[in-house]
Amino acid sequence: MPVTRLVVLVSGAGTNLQALLDAAQDPAYGAEVVAVGADRDGIEGLVRAEKAAVPTFVRKVADSATRAEWDRTLTETVAAYEPDLVVLAGFMRLVGSDFLGRFAGRVVNTHPALCPAFPGTSGPADALAYGVKVTGATLFVVDEGVDTGPIIAQTVVPVEDADDVESLHERIKVAERTMLVGTVGKLAREGFTITDRKVRIGT
Ligand code: GAR
Repeated sequence: MPVTRLVVLVSGAGTNLQALLDAAQDPAYGAEVVAVGADRDGIEGLVRAEKAAVPTFVRKVADSATRAEWDRTLTETVAAYEPDLVVLAGFMRLVGSDFLGRFAGRVVNTHPALCPAFPGTSGPADALAYGVKVTGATLFVVDEGVDTGPIIAQTVVPVEDADDVESLHERIKVAERTMLVGTVGKLAREGFTITDRKVRIGT
């Protein structure tokens, strides 16, 4: 079976990336990380990739004249690695129409909330402020909206009375990494289809 080529985009600590790198050590996993990209320098996620001897690149929005140009540059850079699947793992930018056009239906994102609740960049804080008793993480296929794409997998975690944003996000991330690794492996090995927003893994 051919190995699924993953390009992973990160903006921060890269613990989700690390979980993928670790899983991909096993040939039976069915996927390999062929490159790691970021929208900023000096982040732990890039260090993790370098330690794993995976090629890295940085494409900063500020280095492009317009947001559309940044999107084109990012698209071309990612395309050069010929990914089967692009995984946004803590990538804190919205990819644009060029990117989604090129990799249509093959870009997945992990979000630290139960979509469609609490989209955006502060999912754990918004869940805590709202007072929900459970929250979690969602893996979805990226579309033009903010965390609105077809849902592939979700995992639920409790909110504890004593939680602050950091403790809640850390609990989410433990469950999120397991969900991400397990689901991306299945997508790689079994493929998936999307019909009327319903994602089905396997044939
Ligand atoms: C993850 O919890 C991910 O879901 C979140 O950033 C964290 C990155 O952690 N992404 C978003 O909030 C995107 N809206 P990591 O860098 O340790 O993998």
